[in-house]
Amino acid sequence: MRRALMAGNWKMNKTIPEAIALLSGLKERIGDIRSADIVVCPPFTALSSAASILKGSNIELGAQDVFWKEKGAYTGEISVPMLIDVGCRYCLIGHSERRTYFGETDETVNMKVKAVLKGGLTPIMCVGETLEERRNGKTFEVVGRQVRGGLLDLAPEEIGRVVIAYEPVWAIGTGINAEPQQANEVHAFIAGLLEDLAGKGISDSVRILYGGSVTPDNVISLMSEPRIDGVLVGGASLDADSFSSIVRDGVSAHLSKNRGG
Ligand code: PGA
Repeated sequence: MRRALMAGNWKMNKTIPEAIALLSGLKERIGDIRSADIVVCPPFTALSSAASILKGSNIELGAQDVFWKEKGAYTGEISVPMLIDVGCRYCLIGHSERRTYFGETDETVNMKVKAVLKGGLTPIMCVGETLEERRNGKTFEVVGRQVRGGLLDLAPEEIGRVVIAYEPVWAIGTGINAEPQQANEVHAFIAGLLEDLAGKGISDSVRILYGGSVTPDNVISLMSEPRIDGVLVGGASLDADSFSSIVRDGVSAHLSKNRGG
């Protein structure tokens, strides 16, 4: 059974005091959950304070982006060793907002995935089609290209350490989530690709998260799908009550699906 991974992507939100308040709320509400991995991805400026608050807790820290070089004259960038230094275990890579607004490509995603793996962090590599691509029947083509491109030249064992997040661009921040079966169909397609790239033993262990307008109201039906192993939550991760419900209800749906009930 794949262990559920429930992640929050705060994007460009929360000052340090706000981050501390949110994390304290999360620790109170979901600090007892041991049957899943729980990850929050605050902005860079709040990582250090977040790490102090989360020390010794079940909630782990991720970054929202990284640069692939280890150090040097790259003004404004943050390296993998810096993320490790501040206490991160995970790093989002290739989020659609990075692809759309900041010129991220499958090639840069691939370089970042390699750098993150080399440093010993877990990459959460984001893929997903736009509405136009879906309407034109290009979903599998686009997602397939992003998965293959992002994982280019990785050894099977390395692929085994990656987490994939399927986030249809049309579902991000729109209030329109993918239908659970519709998302699961893409997850199953990605799982098939992973099997081609790394073999079944390894592909079966790779977690595939769904992201895009996940809320406390839709998380149970999403997490009840066989190949949805977790969620990547944007807007609803900014509030302690809503992210806690998503985590608690999503994890129990995942556990009961795996018990076959
Ligand atoms: P959303 O964002 O939950 O606000 O739709 C998801 C994401 O961008 O990761």
